Amino acid sequence: MRSPWNFIDFDEVITGFGRLGASFATEYFGVMPDMMVVAKGITNGTVPMGAVFVRPEIYNAFMSGAENAIELFHGYTYSGHPVACAASLATLDIYEQEGLFQRSQELAGYWEEAVHSLKGLPHVIDIRNLGLVAGIELAAIPGKPGDRGFDCFLRCYEKGLLTRTTGDIIALSPPLIIEKHHIDQMIAMLNEVLKELP
Ligand SMILES: Cc1ncc(COP(=O)(O)O)c(C=O)c1O
Repeated sequence: MRSPWNFIDFDEVITGFGRLGASFATEYFGVMPDMMVVAKGITNGTVPMGAVFVRPEIYNAFMSGAENAIELFHGYTYSGHPVACAASLATLDIYEQEGLFQRSQELAGYWEEAVHSLKGLPHVIDIRNLGLVAGIELAAIPGKPGDRGFDCFLRCYEKGLLTRTTGDIIALSPPLIIEKHHIDQMIAMLNEVLKELP
């Protein structure tokens, strides 16, 4: 997002680490940001960890203090936690060894067709996708924003499908190891739920 100071910051917490079939959304869109925040995929979500990547000019600005001072002092108890760092390094190795970013790129077309097959089902007013991520927007119940989305989330959960909702939007971001038949299963469950949702 471009701020009034011409500063570009990318929130890559969801889009990073292969989800779009590229390392990061910045690479996918060919943008060089000033700053990027990442989490989730950095450890495959196994151990809590987040990171901030910045341009060298910004990094150097923080590194120019007194030699014995802690740069960007926040005092977090778990900063740079060795277990999280080990999980992250192992995750990065597996992404590479198993070619998972490539896999996500290869599945993106199948995923797109699958999620768009929900078009025309009750309550669906918009479907958006990119790489292995999608948003399915449902019409809100008048005066009760978010209720239909939450109902959809619960019904999917009961059937064995874990989704995420932001208001009345169902957010889907499956694991990069997903197989086509899993995608079919997800869409079949969503299809059933959307038809039975009041
Ligand atoms: C796009 C996006 N940015 C940031 C966050 C917050 O991430 P964290 O809890 O790791 O700080 C989330 C959490 O789901 C997210 O989806």
